[in-house]
Amino acid sequence: MSSIFVTGGAGYIGTHTCLELLQAGHKVFVYDNLSNSSRLGLERVERITNTSIEFIEGDVTDANALTRALQHSQCESVIHFAGLKAVGESVTNPLAYYHNNVVGTLTLLRAMLAVGLKKLVFSSSATVYGEPQLLPIDEAHPLSATNPYGRTKLVAEDMLRDHFRAYPDWNITILRYFNPVGAHESGLIGEDPKDTPNNLMPYIAQVAIGLRDRLNIWGNDYPTADGTGVRDYIHVVDLAIGHVKAIATPTPSQCIELNLGTGRGYSVLEVLRAFELASGKAIPHEFFPRRPGDVAACYASTKQAESILQWRAERNLEDMCVDHWRWQHLNPAGYGSNNDFASKHAT
Ligand code: NAD
Ligand code: UFG
Repeated sequence: MSSIFVTGGAGYIGTHTCLELLQAGHKVFVYDNLSNSSRLGLERVERITNTSIEFIEGDVTDANALTRALQHSQCESVIHFAGLKAVGESVTNPLAYYHNNVVGTLTLLRAMLAVGLKKLVFSSSATVYGEPQLLPIDEAHPLSATNPYGRTKLVAEDMLRDHFRAYPDWNITILRYFNPVGAHESGLIGEDPKDTPNNLMPYIAQVAIGLRDRLNIWGNDYPTADGTGVRDYIHVVDLAIGHVKAIATPTPSQCIELNLGTGRGYSVLEVLRAFELASGKAIPHEFFPRRPGDVAACYASTKQAESILQWRAERNLEDMCVDHWRWQHLNPAGYGSNNDFASKHAT
């Protein structure tokens, strides 16, 4: 059992991870500026687990506030989720991305040094592999970036590797997520996109609930079985459990990169059919030209995470769709929905 300082813990992956950490008996301290989240997600985590979370509203680029919060928390390790994640927005506002994702990570490292903390789990992304050269993608795959968001993750990763060379007694785990989807089975927490979703499953879910007319499928001429893009979707609860393993695994000083995926790819049309089955709703869709920057197929080799963390994703595509739909159905407008409705109907 230990105390974990979670930056960005009020967000989509953060809330699910806090829940799993609490259920594993850890103490959780969340630091988040709520720029893409609200207190409601954490309040629901507290309700599900019947445990309280200490929360400080603050920005990871604010060195003084962050150092004070770290000191006050007396935590033994840090999970760093805080950051911006919209690829399109990173093209139109790259400085916001370098500031939050790169300066934020740098400020965190300095604050950790100042208070003597040495264990860090960092949220990276399969985006650092750029255009896949071979599949499945293992951690030795060459790194590159195709957009400013990807570059901020790559720069942050490089900074962590350089930092470890200078401080070899640290323990740094860089987790490269593939495509997180789904929601906790309670239906009380889930992804709550503020604007039009860019990602496939939240978009499909909004079509199913009637918020959008149809899904635009970006390309059906890829060299894949049905011509649509293939991705490695991973249930957010499996992803969250991967973080608990990364925190709990007693490892020596190291800086290591691990893929978190299922190792299996599904096409857009396969996801669409699975969601139709899960929701009982038809999902109108239309084909459009490829989205710039998209790759045909991307899925992980998960061997390294399996052997180092003793972890493997357990939930399948049906679970992802059923759980995602439950969250969407109980919270049609995300956390802005009528809370009593969600609470009453949640399983
Ligand atoms: P999210 O937006 O739901 O959560 C991020 C949280 O960080 C939010 O609560 C936000 O308010 C907070 N935050 C942002 N900037 C901050 C700052 N400067 N200071 C303090 N808090 C700040 O996103 P998520 O999907 O939970 O993603 C978490 C992490 O995982 C991000 O670093 C993201 O880049 C990475 N990631 C996400 C995906 C994905 O598809 N969701 C894939 C790969 C990697
Ligand atoms: N897609 C559609 N229509 C949509 C949305 C998506 O057809 O409205 C297709 C895409 O073309 C792609 C697949 O669904 O073939 C998955 O798209 P997502 O946007 O859900 O996921 P990506 O793999 O393109 O991107 C995600 C994150 C990025 C991250 C990348 C690699 O959004 O931030 O995974 O980890 F960089």
